[in-house]
Amino acid sequence: MPWLILAHFKKNSLSKRALVTGCAGFIGSHLTELLLDKGFEVIGVDNFDVFYDKIIKQKNLSEFITNKNFHFIEADIRNENTWKNLTEKVDVIFHLAAKAGVLPSLQQPAEYITTNILGTQLLLDWMKLYEVKKLIFASSSSVYGNQTKIPFSETDTIDKPISPYASTKKAGELITYTYHHLYQLDVMNLRFFTVFGERQRPDLAIRKFIQKILNNEPIEIYGDGSTARDYTYIKDIVGGIFSSYEYIENKTNVYEIMNLGNNNPVKLINLVNTLYEITNRTPNLIYKPMQPGDVNITFADISKAKTLLNYEPKTTFKQGLENFLSWHLNQK
Ligand SMILES: NC(=O)c1ccc[n+]([C@@H]2O[C@H](COP(=O)([O-])OP(=O)(O)OC[C@H]3O[C@@H](n4cnc5c(N)ncnc54)[C@H](O)[C@@H]3O)[C@@H](O)[C@H]2O)c1
Repeated sequence: MPWLILAHFKKNSLSKRALVTGCAGFIGSHLTELLLDKGFEVIGVDNFDVFYDKIIKQKNLSEFITNKNFHFIEADIRNENTWKNLTEKVDVIFHLAAKAGVLPSLQQPAEYITTNILGTQLLLDWMKLYEVKKLIFASSSSVYGNQTKIPFSETDTIDKPISPYASTKKAGELITYTYHHLYQLDVMNLRFFTVFGERQRPDLAIRKFIQKILNNEPIEIYGDGSTARDYTYIKDIVGGIFSSYEYIENKTNVYEIMNLGNNNPVKLINLVNTLYEITNRTPNLIYKPMQPGDVNITFADISKAKTLLNYEPKTTFKQGLENFLSWHLNQK
């Protein structure tokens, strides 16, 4: 999309303006919709990274691309010109653009470093230049590594990330702290726990499994099925992201790290059985060894988000899966 569109985008002084990086992705597209519903003007940046099919991301964007308060820029956050060309004033940045995915980060660590660390650094320099003070950063539960103490709390030591992806997310938390300290940015680092629901990334287990079940193909289970994830429904996550903005909107000197999870880990075998149940199919499983970089469990202590944000995930795991399934069946 051309930069020209942006040149015609005159700020309405009554509404807030947000910059959403990664707006064409799974979480970014839901967040953008929520912000538009709340009356924000949104500038969305995304480069349609090759991690998964551009057509899926264009479909995500098509939900709101015609909204007059939305302005899309196809650009790469690693490119200095992206930031040089962006001269519009914004009130808040939701930084979701990233190379996501644990396993692929073992194959392409340098790609993860440049996107997730250099891209974040260039954004922070842009914030400094334009004196944008509010930043919501998408961190991840993977920073906790394979720790055995559960649930995971924000005060736990996170010195042992076990994938390049996890290291880059920890790095993001550190460099945002540095800019908070040096340039008084107000920062919320949100550690998302396995987000699922409509438009979920195609590399993630639930979307892959549903496809296989509907095609009557077997599902491959890595490990013995006892690994567990604190699956969190997309609408609960974007609600939490928005609440974190409301939390910093009128405050200064804020730097917080916060879990956004469900506080209810589900074992892989239970996930799979629920998928067979809601699709009325008979289980057909193949067991394989655990994959490197994968953690055994994620389990969020969400008491901090409850206290500071009134965050309270509302969607049950089964309901979220049913929502995902009916969305998936309506695709094509
Ligand atoms: N989905 C989850 O369960 C989960 C869990 C923890 C953290 N996160 C984090 O949340 C954020 C969003 O994740 P998602 O699941 O929506 O992933 P996603 O891949 O669907 O979205 C990321 C978006 O960023 C864009 N992007 C990637 N590199 C870019 C670049 N160089 N320049 C501009 N845009 C670029 C991609 O094209 C994509 O649209 C990521 O930062 C991810 O690490 C996600």
